[in-house]
Amino acid sequence: MTVVAPLIDGFGRVHTDLRISVTDRCNLRCTYCMPLEVVFKPREELLTFEEIGRVAGVAATLGIRTIRLTGGEPLMRRDLPELVRQLTAVPGIEEVALTTNGLLLAEQAADLHAAGLTRLNVSLDSLTTEGFERVARRPGLDRALAGLEVAKREGFQSIRINAVSIKGLTEAEIVPLARFCRREEFHLRFIEFMPLDAEESWDKSQVLSGADVRAVLERELGPLVAEQADDPGQPAIDYRWVDGGRVGFINAVTRPFCDRCDRLRLTADGQVRNCLFSTVEWDARSLLRGGGADTEIATLIRDCVAAKRAAHGIDTPSFARPSRAMYQIGG
Ligand code: 5AD
Ligand code: SF4
Repeated sequence: MTVVAPLIDGFGRVHTDLRISVTDRCNLRCTYCMPLEVVFKPREELLTFEEIGRVAGVAATLGIRTIRLTGGEPLMRRDLPELVRQLTAVPGIEEVALTTNGLLLAEQAADLHAAGLTRLNVSLDSLTTEGFERVARRPGLDRALAGLEVAKREGFQSIRINAVSIKGLTEAEIVPLARFCRREEFHLRFIEFMPLDAEESWDKSQVLSGADVRAVLERELGPLVAEQADDPGQPAIDYRWVDGGRVGFINAVTRPFCDRCDRLRLTADGQVRNCLFSTVEWDARSLLRGGGADTEIATLIRDCVAAKRAAHGIDTPSFARPSRAMYQIGG
């Protein structure tokens, strides 16, 4: 696969990862993401698999190597394994991963694995029914756990668990989640709560920092040793316990990793974004549906990358939240 010229932004960051949201629909209503009452996009506004495949194909010629499918909840998109099959067949794409809440995983894990999905991230914030429902505002813990069990049995390697860390909610979950993940050999990651909740109630004081979570883990479960990152662009800092088990921290608020960011995003309605916190979007859907050529799609992607800012700037006075929330952007 020859790359004409890689996607390099004004700060020298090379972009190799594309996050594709396949739907804004979700079967949960997590407080940090969705509103309780929500109006979803009409289906005709969502890109078809063919359109997604076309953007992915062009992106691969520009040096995109890994794809992550997100939502909303991606497993609510019908026939997702078919999309996985199409994307793994795109020349240049080396890995197709998925971030899911796991509720539909028991039914779909086998097909996803057979379709060539390489990595699986499951969002799980609590192991108690009460804790789960306080965050997700809907039941689902048993299904998520069943989904994880099936995924493991189907042979997925390196299953990751994402837990958003929020003050007043996460403290009680830290040790149970860590024990569970060590026992099951899942790789646990704590993600600091970011200002992407639809209800706009985020405040810095609600962020439970990765450093605080780590202190609890070391106190309760023993000292952690920092690991060398496998992938220099990865946002997480990973640690391991001497006696086994790993845990990572995505300290997106207290220790931003924007200087290493290699990600681009495609929303379910076909908008290309250069950051979770972008306030501007590049409209690929109009090009796709208006007879645009691949070269025009390539130019749109390049323009988007070229306009990327140095950092999200959550802590700066000029920070403005994006008008769309997490479920409309894709994690
Ligand atoms: N802050 C941090 N992480 C979030 N996620 C969703 N909303 C937020 C937020 N406001 C996480 C989900 C999922 C991933 C896609 O992003 O838990 O694991
Ligand atoms: Fe659904 Fe994920 Fe948003 Fe929760 S965080 S409401 S599971 S899309």
